[in-house]
This record gives sequence, C-alpha cells and structure tokens, in this order.
Amino acid sequence: MNKLTIIGGGNLGKSILSGLANSTMFEVKNITVVDKSKYNLTAIEEELGVSTSQDITTSIRGVKWVILCVQPRQLDIVLKEIKDIVTADQILISTVTGISIAEINETIPINKVVRVMPNTGASKKLSMTCIAANEEVKEELEIVQKMFDTIGETLVIEERLMQAATVLGASGIAFFLRFLRAMIQGGIQMGFHPHEAQIIAVQTAIGAATLVAENGTHPEREIDKVTTPQGCTIEGLNEMEHQGLSSSVIKGVMASYEKINTIK
Ligand SMILES: NC(=O)c1ccc[n+]([C@@H]2O[C@H](COP(=O)([O-])OP(=O)(O)OC[C@H]3O[C@@H](n4cnc5c(N)ncnc54)[C@H](OP(=O)(O)O)[C@@H]3O)[C@@H](O)[C@H]2O)c1
Repeated sequence: MNKLTIIGGGNLGKSILSGLANSTMFEVKNITVVDKSKYNLTAIEEELGVSTSQDITTSIRGVKWVILCVQPRQLDIVLKEIKDIVTADQILISTVTGISIAEINETIPINKVVRVMPNTGASKKLSMTCIAANEEVKEELEIVQKMFDTIGETLVIEERLMQAATVLGASGIAFFLRFLRAMIQGGIQMGFHPHEAQIIAVQTAIGAATLVAENGTHPEREIDKVTTPQGCTIEGLNEMEHQGLSSSVIKGVMASYEKINTIK
C-alpha cells in the first residue's frame, strides 16, 4: 500500500510531484498522477518518470495515499466520482482551499482526511505548508508531514486555524511581494535601474528572512543589529512607522482574514 495518487496535475500537483519523485519516500513507479489533459500528463511522465492516467477510479484502487489537487469548484465532482471506491484505510489529503474536513465528509463520510495548505513557494521547494487532520488520522500524520517536507517547511495546526494559515502563508506570498515591490520602487527613485534595484531588494529579503530562520531570533533583534543610533536606518524605520507600516500590515492581514471567513 505504499502507493500514492495525485488527482490534478496543475501548478500545485506538479510541485508536490516533483518533491516526492525526487525524494526516497516513494518509488516513482508507485506514484500516479491523474489529470484531464493527456498533453499535460505526457510532459509530467517524461519529466519525472511517474505513472499517469486520465482515469481517476482505476488510479486510486489499492493506493494508500490520495492527494486531491483540483480547484475548489472541481472538488465536488471528484469526490462524487471516488466516493464508492475509496476504502476506509485510504488517506485523503486535500490541498483544496476553503473546503473543510467536515464538508469532505459530507460526501465521503468514513475516511481519514488531512487538509494541507501549501503556498506557491512549493515550486521552488520553499513552501510553507500547514497541515490539519481529523481524529482518524494519527500515526499517518507524521508521514504526511514528511511528504510535504519534500517541498519546504511544514507545521501541524488545528483545523480551526486553516483559514488563518491561508492568509498568513498563502496570501502572505503576495503581501511580502508587495513590500518587495515598494523597496524596488524606492531603489529606482534613488538612482538604480529597475533590474539592479530588484537584484538588491530580492537578495536583501532572502538575507533578512534567512537570518531569522537560521538564527531563530525575533526580527527586532536582527533589526537592532543594523540600526545605529541617530543613523539612517532608524530614520527610515521611524518614518515608515509614522506612515503606519506595522498598523497597515496588521489591518491588511485582518481584512484578508475577515474576507476569507465570508467566502467560506
Ligand atoms: N498553487 C498553489 O500554490 C496552492 C496553494 C495552496 C492551495 N492550493 C489549492 O490547490 C488546489 C490546486 O491548485 P492549482 O493551482 O494546482 O490548480 P490548477 O493548476 O488549476 O490544477 C488543477 C488540475 O486538476 C485538473 N483537474 C480538474 N478536475 C479534474 C478531474 N476531475 N480529474 C482529473 N484532473 C482534474 C485540472 O485540469 P483542467 O485545468 O483541465 O481543469 C488541472 O490540471 C486548489 O484547490 C488550490 O486552492 C494551491
């Protein structure tokens, strides 16, 4: 039963496939990807050597792990297609945004269900993936976490925090990128060409994030290290705060959170 099927070979499906196919967790012949497009499947097969199929039902028989990687509007069709085939010992792992375990259980009542929320960093093996599971999934949770460790960092959370994880982790990519864009614009105004400003701002962002990630420090401690009293950094930081930087970021995160809770 050490077989895995991914339903949906789109952006995220391909990223997960690439992580798993290049890990030692599964033999590539034991990984199957199902998609509607034969063209897409041929490309995946050639690149990663995994099995491919356009038939969901035959692809999930005898398979322990099934990862659902379709759009939210497509999930219902897939669940209805597999509901009479899945067995109680199969683990359904849903990447689908905004669909709860309880909602999946409305169609498939008996299964072990795990929800995962990666982000687009997955395509560079730098995803932040939050994972939540129902009570049925205990010893398998560690294996699910290992699967998603192949595409970045993972954290097991309570399902009630899944919407918050979507805002902080998935929308968070956009929030950081907007800050990055603003830094680039500032760099251009000071005299750099756009591509030069981008190289400087991107590498600085990687450096800043890596300092916190690897040192395990609070951001403010790393800020203190570059903030000379009466210097240019504190001048810039204080002006940003007078203009409401922290406040607007927190308000933006909360607006996003309020919105996601109305979409649900
Ligand atoms: N991309 C991310 O980083 C990310 C992050 C967090 C969560 N998610 C969630 O992950 C899910 C997948 O996202 P994505 O960006 O990978 O979407 P995507 O690129 O649209 O991929 C979905 C794939 O599934 C295929 N598909 C749809 N219905 C199918 C069916 N019945 N049988 C077989 N294949 C089917 C689609 O084919 P067609 O295009 O022909 O319909 C498409 O190739 C979404 O629910 C999204 O909310 C994504």
